[in-house]
Parts: sequence; structure tokens; C-alpha cells
Amino acid sequence: MSEGIKSAAVIGSGVMGSAIAAQFAGAGIRTQLLDVVPRELPPGSGTDATARNRLAKEAVAKALQTKPAPFYLPEQAQLVSIGNLEDHVGRLASCDLVIEAIVENLEIKQQLFRKIAPHLNEHALLASNTSGLSIARMSESLPPELAKRFVVMHFFNPVRYMHLLEVSGGPNTDPAVLERAARFGEFLGKGIVRTKDTTNFVANRIGVYSMMQVLHAVLESGIGIEAADMISGKPMAGSAGATFKTADLVGLDTLVHVAKNCYDTLTRDPEREVFRIPPLITELVKQGRLGRKSGAGFYKKVGDDILVLDTQSLEYKPPQKPRFDSIGAVRNIEDPRQRVAKLVAADDPAARFAWRVLSRTLAYSAALVGEITDDLVSIDRAMRWGFNWELGPFETWDALGVAAAAERMQRDGVNVPAWVREGVIAGPGRFYAGTVAAPTFFDVPTRKPKPIARDPRELKLDALSSDPKRVVKKILGASLIDLGDGALCVEVHTKMNTLDGDVIEMLVAGVNEAERNFEALVIGNDGLHFGAGANLFMIFAAAQQKKWDQIGGVIRGLQSSLQGLRYARVPVVAAPFQFTLGGGAELAMAADLCQAHAETYMGLVEPGVGLIPAGGGCLRMVERHTTHIQGVELADPLPLIAQASMTVAMAKVSTSAEEAKQLRLLQPQDGISLNRSHQLYHAKQRALGLARAGYRPPRPRVLYAAGRDAAATIGARVWALVEGGRASAYDGLLANTLAQVLCGGQVAAGTPRSEQDYLDLEYEAFMSLCGQEKTLARIQHMLEKNKPLRN
Ligand code: NAI
Repeated sequence: MSEGIKSAAVIGSGVMGSAIAAQFAGAGIRTQLLDVVPRELPPGSGTDATARNRLAKEAVAKALQTKPAPFYLPEQAQLVSIGNLEDHVGRLASCDLVIEAIVENLEIKQQLFRKIAPHLNEHALLASNTSGLSIARMSESLPPELAKRFVVMHFFNPVRYMHLLEVSGGPNTDPAVLERAARFGEFLGKGIVRTKDTTNFVANRIGVYSMMQVLHAVLESGIGIEAADMISGKPMAGSAGATFKTADLVGLDTLVHVAKNCYDTLTRDPEREVFRIPPLITELVKQGRLGRKSGAGFYKKVGDDILVLDTQSLEYKPPQKPRFDSIGAVRNIEDPRQRVAKLVAADDPAARFAWRVLSRTLAYSAALVGEITDDLVSIDRAMRWGFNWELGPFETWDALGVAAAAERMQRDGVNVPAWVREGVIAGPGRFYAGTVAAPTFFDVPTRKPKPIARDPRELKLDALSSDPKRVVKKILGASLIDLGDGALCVEVHTKMNTLDGDVIEMLVAGVNEAERNFEALVIGNDGLHFGAGANLFMIFAAAQQKKWDQIGGVIRGLQSSLQGLRYARVPVVAAPFQFTLGGGAELAMAADLCQAHAETYMGLVEPGVGLIPAGGGCLRMVERHTTHIQGVELADPLPLIAQASMTVAMAKVSTSAEEAKQLRLLQPQDGISLNRSHQLYHAKQRALGLARAGYRPPRPRVLYAAGRDAAATIGARVWALVEGGRASAYDGLLANTLAQVLCGGQVAAGTPRSEQDYLDLEYEAFMSLCGQEKTLARIQHMLEKNKPLRN
């Protein structure tokens, strides 16, 4: 729920303000975006609104061009009204939430608060997006009554894509207001970490400390920037982007700003010196080498090459490909816990570098529990959600073995806090314990394990399936899990959640089981993607050996299992998220409804590997594009089928669930969950809702084909694209094959066709393409390079 926040204002339309406004608009909230009146107004512009609102106007225009996009859909910008703080401050009275994202300067923020305070309504929340200014100091400028409603809501950049929202209050903030801000943040899709009113809060304090450790280690050890990035990325279970790449991305000025704020204000922190900016960085910032935004920082792009900074000469040079045995040994270990443990146990320069940075970061994080936030779980979450670390510091420390790592730290002169030595090591020996279903963490004040509170809206399949009674059936690639309350879940857990024989088997079993013993069926999983297509390797191997029966069997199996879902006697709700491609998209499209996550990248991408959708994807596209005109006399399906044809032929992938709706990969009645953690719960509720509202399965349909003439017209357009050099001849062949299927085959317009007719057309087209050399070359390229081949 939006916590009664129906309208909001964002003040300051820079990088963060415009993105926060976009996020609010994406959640359906009417939003004012206000900035200052530009100091230098063009002569004669006087009261000209265009000139006076220029900053906010340009900010929205820029946000619409930014990639990755801050808006789920450009049309959502209509919910953002632009203005300025001179002429439109009165609009604040109608806002339920006012958040500022202006320059990071205490006096300027205080001035702003004094200016806007009289205009806020008596229920409004007032928030600051400060990166780390003192909340107590900021609230000094507020009337006492408003100070109760003042919170920090610290979003991370890029706002739409970073899960973390730090929420914090000042000395007078009402706890109910903090709770409301946190709930609202969850509604926006964020993971909430409550922090204390301390410099730079949690994620930036530890994240920048760790980055500074890497920086110092590079300057002192002689390890190069590119080597440090390689080590501090995946091998250390840190951000995939690694330290210097991350610094270039966020901007060296921002990094310096945060580090300097720590250095200036944390005068009693024993680790204060770590935040001291080395002269090298000061020099780079002075020269305007701020990272990506200025074209050069630690790296510089020259043509197609990426050069790297030489820390001695400050020149850019081609990167070295450093080789370390320790990195080679851990590179392919999937489990980050094993990976990091094996790395620091090794003994070469990379391993010693990793240990130096990690050991200090872990010890520093432990020293801050209680000061920056109450519990260690919040620290781990902040680092995973705000800095993309694979493991938080305490999860890493558990992976290394708490006692063994602590002993090594002490040998190296790194101070291990007393609570770790006397509480954890002398006690349970780990920070986290308990079971998957009932995990615990070490609670520092009581020095005892304490349950990790779980929101009932966070339905976790791993937790549920740790109870054998919940696991109705399980095979290697998929399971049936009892979600409780009459809902059954088909969980796919193959690699990348691709569809294979196991999944097909489990979809059939899921329908049977749900019809017998449950009220509704949900298709979802806890992995990284809903489903990244079919098992291409199997198709490739079978096609090479000309085992057509095997491929045919898989396609028929997929079709009949997905039709089985479509016509199940219980409602079926799919919960797509992230990659929902090819067969994954067809699986989602077979359900009665989808409850998609806002970040759903969905597409029928088969043409990219020289194929067309054959698991009912073409049928569903025809149905979705023409349902409203089926049986309407004189209605022309051609433009609609042509549109469907382009979506598939160009293997379009939606950049959000909203866009998937526009592409009709999702339907208007499908739900969108902004919060991924709540998505499965929402899907379950929708499935049960359908069941309890007297669900009846759909009737098999007859579709009136667009026919051969429509296919020929689409073919003419395809020909023009090929002739114009915008598509290859093979793209053309694929597009024509697809158009034939979407038009219902070689029949006259208006010929009634059954669903099975369309499935047969899909099947035949798919099988014929599997025998084509260029298709096999496309599949092989995708398997080897993970990129489509245009041949
Ligand atoms: P920015 O420099 O991109 O934008 C600041 C905007 O505020 C500009 O549009 C400016 O015209 C406007 N502004 C300045 N003074 C104003 C005033 N008195 N009244 C109204 N508008 C005024 O800054 P950015 O990066 O968006 O940062 C804004 C806030 O968000 C800062 O407090 C920053 O610490 C915080 N923040 C920044 C993050 C980042 O990665 N850039 C991440 C999280 C928080």
C-alpha cells in the first residue's frame, strides 16, 4: 500500500530528484518536480513560465533520454508536473510527501526547509535524500511539530535499479512516521534498512571504507588498477563492477565527497585515516577527470579501446591482463562463499590483496554495529542492496570461519571487536545460524542468536521447501511446492531456469496435482530469472545429429503442457521477472494471468537463434492482438498481425513489465508488483482470488485467420527491409515464416482456425528451421558467445 501517499513533491531536479520523481510516477503517484528559477533568465523572459521552469523541464527531458531508463514507460512522465520554487511553492500544500534532493549542503538544505515549512499540510511527510548529513542538524531549522514528521529517505543511484532505501529519523521524529516512510519505500519496491543518524549512514560508510582500502592497497602494493578491479569484483564476492569501475560510474567527485564527509566528521573513529583522500585522487578531481561523466577517470575510453590510468605517470595505457593462480582457481566457483574462502586461503599477491581489504572491511563493519544501525543483518542487506555485493560482511566472515579469520586478523594487527571474540567465537561460532525456514542472527546487545524477522509478504520457496511436508514432488529441474491456503507452486530450478524435459513433466504434474488437491496454481521461482528460454543446447545437439523425433517430441510436449496450463480447471497465475524469454515468455503467456515484477524483460526472442516461437507463443500473440476484432465484420486484422509480427521478428524484449503490456506480451489485466520480495505472495493472492471468485477455465477458441494475402503484404514489408539493408536475407526468411504462422497459414482471410491449427503451424515452421544451417550457426553462436548472430 502507498501509505496514503497519493501525491508527492520532489525538490531539486538533478540526478537524484528527477529519478525519484520517475520512481514515484512509476508507482502511480502524481508528483511535482520543483527546482530553483534559473539565476540567469534570458533577457525579456520576465514571467515566462518556460524560462522559469527550465531546470525541472530539462530534467524530465533528460530522464526520458537516460539509459538505463528511470521511467518504466515514457508515458509515465505525464504524472510529473514541473515547476519552480518561486511560483509553485503553494502546490506543496496538496502533497502527502515532500522530499528534497538539492545540493548536499547543510545550510542550503536548512534554508530550503525554512522556506517550505509554512506550505506543507499538517499530515505531510517531509523527507531528505541526503547522502549523509546530520539529521539532527537539518531538523534544527524545522518547527517542532514538523520535526516529528521529518525523515531521511536515502535512495541509491540509479534509483529505479538499486534496491536499497535507507530510512532514518532525527531526535524528534515520530516512530510512526518512520514506519510510514519505510512502508511507503517497500511499496515503491525498495528493501528498507533502518539506520541511525550517523555520517553517511550504513552502505556508504562501509562501502566507501572498503573502496578506500582498495585504493590504499593499490597505491601501496603496486597492484594495478585493472588487477585490483579483477580481484575486488567477482572473486571477492564484491560488486560485479569492481572498485575503480564503480568509482568511475558514480563519479570521483562523489566518492571524494562521501570520503571527505567521513574524514571531516568522524573525528573519533580509529579508522578515520582510511578516509583521507590520497593526493592522486585530489589531482584527478582537480583536473576534472571525474569518471564516465567527464570521459576519463581511472579508465578512459579511446575509440573502441578502454585504457587504464597509470598511477605513477597519470597517463592512460592499455590494460594488462594480470594472471594470478588464486584467481584462476576460484573464477568458476559458483557459490560466493566457497569462492571467497578459497581465494583468501591462497598465497599469492591477489590473495594477499583480497585478504588485506576484506579483513579490514569485516572488522570495521563489526566495530560499527550499534553505532550506525542496530543489527548486523541490516549491514549485510545494505551492502548487498546498495553496493551490489554478493555477500554482506558478516555473511563473508561466516564463509571464512569466524574464529579462524579473527585469529588471522589479530595476527595481522587488525582489531577484532570484543563482541565478536567474546560473544560469537565463544558462543555459537557464527553470525548466522538456525534453519532456512527459521534463520537466526547474532544479536549484539543480548549476545544471543535472535530470529530474523520475516515479513509474511515475503514468500520464500527455499524456506517453504525446507519443510518436507510442503514439497509435493521434486525432480532435478523443478518442484511442486505447497504455498499454503490451497495454492500450489511449480518452481523451476534448472540453470538460468531454462525449460527442459523436467520442467515440462512438472507442469503436467502440477496441473494434475492442483486439480486434485488444491484450489489454484502459481508458476514462480526464487532464482535470478523467471526463465531464459528453452534448453538450446539440447536442440542444437539433436539437430546436429538429425534426431528430429527428439526435437519434435520436446516441442509437442511443451505445447501440450502449456495448453494443459491454459485449460486447467484451476486458475493459473505466473510470476515473471527479469529474463522471461522465449519458452519462458510462452510459459508466462499460457497462464490465466501474470503477476509480473516491474523489472520484467520479456520477449519472444526465438528469431535471434533462427527459430520462431513454437510453444504457443505465436498463437497467444494472434489471440492477444486480434481478440477484440474476432468476429467483427469488415475489421481488418492485417495491421494488428503486422504489429505482432514485428514484435516477434525483431525479437523485441521489453525493458519493463509496463512495456511488456504495450507489446501485448503481458495483458492489461496482468498485475505488476513493484517489490520483487512480495511478488510471489501477490501471485498467490491473485490465484486464490480467482479460485474463490468462481473460476471457470476458458473455452477453446476459434480464431479467424488473417490469411495468405495478409502474409503476402507483411512479406512485402519484410522484403523492403531486406532490400534496404536493415535485415539480412535470413532475417527475411524467418520473418516470412513467422508471418505465415501468425496469419493462420495458406488460407483465405477469415477462415476459422482452431488453436491446434496454429500450434501445428508453429510446429512445422520450427522443425523446418531446425534443419537450416544458418539457424544452427545462430544457435551455436548464442551458446558460445551469449549474443545473437546476424547471418
Ligand atoms: P545534482 O547536483 O544533480 O542536483 C541538485 C539539484 O538541486 C539541481 O537541479 C539544482 O538546481 C537543485 N538545487 C540546488 N539548490 C537548490 C535549492 N536551494 N532549492 C531547490 N533546488 C535546488 O545533485 P544530486 O546528485 O541529485 O544530489 C542531490 C541530493 O541527493 C544530495 O543531497 C546528494 O547527497 C543526494 N544523493 C546523491 C546521490 C548520487 O549518487 N548523486 C545518491 C544518493 C543521494
